[in-house]
Amino acid sequence: MKSYSLLAPAKINLDLEIIGDRPDGYHQLVMILQSISLADHILITPHKAQNITVHCTHSQVPLDQSNLAYRAAKLMQEHFSEHSAEYGGLDITIEKNIPVAAGLAGGSTDAAAVLVGINQLWEIGLTQPELCSLASQLGSDIPFCIGGGTAIATGRGEELDPILDLDHLFVVLGKYESLAVSTPWAYQAYRQQFLDQYLSDQDSIKNRISQTYSSPLVKGIMEKNGQKIGQFLHNDLEKVVLPEYGQVAHLKETMKKAGGLGTLMSGSGPTVFTLCESQQEADHIHTQVKAQISDPDLTLWVAQLSSTGITINN
Ligand code: C5P
Repeated sequence: MKSYSLLAPAKINLDLEIIGDRPDGYHQLVMILQSISLADHILITPHKAQNITVHCTHSQVPLDQSNLAYRAAKLMQEHFSEHSAEYGGLDITIEKNIPVAAGLAGGSTDAAAVLVGINQLWEIGLTQPELCSLASQLGSDIPFCIGGGTAIATGRGEELDPILDLDHLFVVLGKYESLAVSTPWAYQAYRQQFLDQYLSDQDSIKNRISQTYSSPLVKGIMEKNGQKIGQFLHNDLEKVVLPEYGQVAHLKETMKKAGGLGTLMSGSGPTVFTLCESQQEADHIHTQVKAQISDPDLTLWVAQLSSTGITINN
């Protein structure tokens, strides 16, 4: 039987605003999510036994049931037990290029690829909205990872409104290899500090979301105006992560001084990115930052913004 090879891109946040609490314990958010060309490769191969096995050589990627890609496959087995019985178990091989626990949705995009791949492999015929609905049961970022591109995300982050593609811009990304920020910790720390600013009534929440829709950042995206986008990048979680992780704050300052259109921490961090007008500018900033921070623990990448989510290679 056929194997499926898929490309699973990372995402960055151009915007992350925390609006309030939700009855399910998550936060009400409004975000602008953006796919980038830095991507994992996922290979899904069927086998006769019914089990799921995950293969990955990256030391920080778990191979057991805690792996989101494993959980995505398990969810498909549970929902489509007849297909599962007919087609057998699955070998999932992850070629990990996206840093782990980095605020780049690396685990989420692998899970998204598994959902898309199994839908093909088992010829289930789920539409993208149906896949997104399953994905939202596994994690807030996974629905976005399926379709990718540029989108305004609300709710927990799973309600998506795709907007214009921005694939003419580039980013330089920086992350300390040994540094990981726990997403639950970041949100919890934010709640502790800013609970008094949380909105609770539906009208105020709707109002706040519509403010983002008419914000200079969204205008900049619509106009494909890199200068404006760079100027209005925003992430509320920086308020708790940067004071706690001095290295990340220093990296952000160093990257900002090196130039580009704007610098921001992605998601709950600790990855920091600088938006750039061209690959040349991104390469220049990459060189500058590398020269200024000679720590071998710091890895830098150059990537292009991308208009695609999960893509099947074969
Ligand atoms: O949905 P996901 O599993 O990716 O979220 C990881 C954690 O981030 C959640 O357990 C929660 O602590 C926090 N989170 C949140 N509100 C959101 C999304 C995530 O509080 N909208």
